[in-house]
Amino acid sequence: MQTIRQLADMTRCSNEIIASGSSLALVPTMGYFHEGHLSLMRLARRLADRVVVSLFVNSMQFGPNEDLSSYPRDLERDSRMAADEKIDVLFLPTDRDMYSSDFNARVRVDGFTDTLCGNQRPGHFEGVTTVVTKLFNIVKPNIAVFGQKDFQQLRVIAKMVRDLNWDIEIVGHPIVREDDGLAMSSRNTYLSSEERGKALCLYKAIQHAKTRFESGLTDAELLKFEIRDIILANSGVSVDYISVVDKDNLSDREEIDSNSVLALAVKVGQTRLIDNCFLGK
Ligand code: PAJ
Repeated sequence: MQTIRQLADMTRCSNEIIASGSSLALVPTMGYFHEGHLSLMRLARRLADRVVVSLFVNSMQFGPNEDLSSYPRDLERDSRMAADEKIDVLFLPTDRDMYSSDFNARVRVDGFTDTLCGNQRPGHFEGVTTVVTKLFNIVKPNIAVFGQKDFQQLRVIAKMVRDLNWDIEIVGHPIVREDDGLAMSSRNTYLSSEERGKALCLYKAIQHAKTRFESGLTDAELLKFEIRDIILANSGVSVDYISVVDKDNLSDREEIDSNSVLALAVKVGQTRLIDNCFLGK
């Protein structure tokens, strides 16, 4: 595995890969790898000849009161884990190189970003689409792999690529969970052991939603009401949103059908966790 820090070196390396006729997949990450990230890398390896994993904690996508400074980092461990996955390049751009002091450009996708996490975290998706645009232009992948854990992010990026006619295939990977159902996340490290137990309410809510839909419930309001009860049964847990949306255009659904997604954002203590499930499958 090669480690590249300079943007120009990364582009030079990509140009060589492209000139050799090989396909190239990119897995963008903010590091502190867990099995979710590693599964994306394995999928990328199956889909392309060469795999670049970027690791960049993107300041632009964090709000002023969010966890940028405490975001977990362990480059040594991440490098080892990425090397074990036999990826070709670990790309580690610096903040200064990505965002020079006179950096003014922003990439924004309207509509898809007004709802769910976009509502709760102003500017977040603009930060995501701007950094992903830069990564796409620097790395020039044929394929980019994203997790369905960040379901709205995946949709926003796929929409950006479609709207801007980018010749990049956006591939989604299913949510990877711990044995007890908690969706893996770098932010799970913030949870105390008591909070870790309470965080299971997200998965319980998802299982409840699937069972209720399979047994014929189609009233989204009623389902959301029931889920709120499941979540708020835990002290110190609050709801950011419970939404039933269309899986393609993210619009709110009153009637649940096989195109619906249940999306949840919950605060367990100070830690904000998200999860979702397709109700149709
Ligand atoms: P990060 O949170 O590090 O996630 C990197 C990729 O891993 C994302 O595509 C995310 O959806 C995926 N992922 C995280 N947890 C997962 C899980 N439990 N199962 C499946 N996939 C999972 O998402 C970001 O970084 C950033 O916003 C980024 C796209 C890199 C832009 O800065």
